[in-house]
Amino acid sequence: MPVLIIGSGLVGSQIARILVEQGERPIVLDQRPQREALAQIVDVSKIDLVEGDVLRPLTLSQAICKGNISAIIHTAAHPMLTLGAQRDPYAAIQLNIMGTVNVLEAARIHGVKRVVVSSSSVLNGHMAGGEDGGDMTREEAFPRPSTFYAATKQAVESIGHNYAAIGIEFAAMRYGPVAGPWGGPGGGGPTLMFRDMMDNAIAGREAVIPSAAMEWVYSKDAARGTVLAAQAATLPSRVFNITMGKAISAEELMAALKEVFPAVKVRHDKPLAPGSARSKPAEIARAKKILVYEPEFPMVGAMRDYLEWSRKFAKAK
Ligand SMILES: NC(=O)c1ccc[n+]([C@@H]2O[C@H](COP(=O)([O-])OP(=O)(O)OC[C@H]3O[C@@H](n4cnc5c(N)ncnc54)[C@H](O)[C@@H]3O)[C@@H](O)[C@H]2O)c1
Repeated sequence: MPVLIIGSGLVGSQIARILVEQGERPIVLDQRPQREALAQIVDVSKIDLVEGDVLRPLTLSQAICKGNISAIIHTAAHPMLTLGAQRDPYAAIQLNIMGTVNVLEAARIHGVKRVVVSSSSVLNGHMAGGEDGGDMTREEAFPRPSTFYAATKQAVESIGHNYAAIGIEFAAMRYGPVAGPWGGPGGGGPTLMFRDMMDNAIAGREAVIPSAAMEWVYSKDAARGTVLAAQAATLPSRVFNITMGKAISAEELMAALKEVFPAVKVRHDKPLAPGSARSKPAEIARAKKILVYEPEFPMVGAMRDYLEWSRKFAKAK
């Protein structure tokens, strides 16, 4: 039974590729599909690409009715993630939260069993407060998200858990900052930082790297973790950290870059935004145990894979 993928950007395109490689023909719904960029990742003759807006519930119904959909993977989000939501909170809240509610409602009405959504590791860092030590009778018992984007992702996880209680098999994937090949606009600030760093290193220009430790996940690993959640026999847990499994210090990132580009010139960027630096990595034990997820692209592997893609599509970029 086909899977409906919503959002065909940096991560959604890789999800489509994996399903096609498994012999499936996913339905891919996107408001503004970037066909050229998509074709660099997946054989588009093997997917059903539908133009549609997740904020229009009937579009979702149509896409679900088009195939006998077994699962929905929802990756669409307001552009530029944290930065975009700080600039335009209303639009981000509407798309990130109400878009997901539309997906969950459509799944409930049409009897789609499983919904997997993209959450974010911002919920492991962009949090503040929680000084009442978890005492639920007190007002500040739990930390709150410190950005609009994180607030939308927390809302989505909480709403999803409640849909799970009424029968939808819900899972939320907390990706670390996603690095990966993508020929169009997409991703968030760190995605662009990785892309600029790589493109500069490839072109022999100075590469700018983050000034502190960060977590990352390669887009192919983020997609694989998501597909594993969509296909797991059972979901005894509903939220999964999906990262490279470690925080990567500025020195480690520089060493990786020099391994791939021995002559590269490197400069450190300005200090990271509060909440972005990570000395303690997200714990991925749950994803490893339940989804049998193992990151396949450590930083050097990610850089080599990006380089291969870049060489292949240099003309198209
Ligand atoms: N990129 C990252 O660093 C990162 C990190 C953590 C979590 N995430 C989450 O992963 C998910 C995927 O991120 P990405 O980097 O692939 O994003 P992206 O911007 O590359 O792709 C999102 C896609 O959704 C589509 N879209 C936007 N609005 C839509 C709408 N109303 N209806 C239908 N489609 C719509 C866009 O056209 C785009 O193709 C998002 O939910 C994001 O919050 C991303």
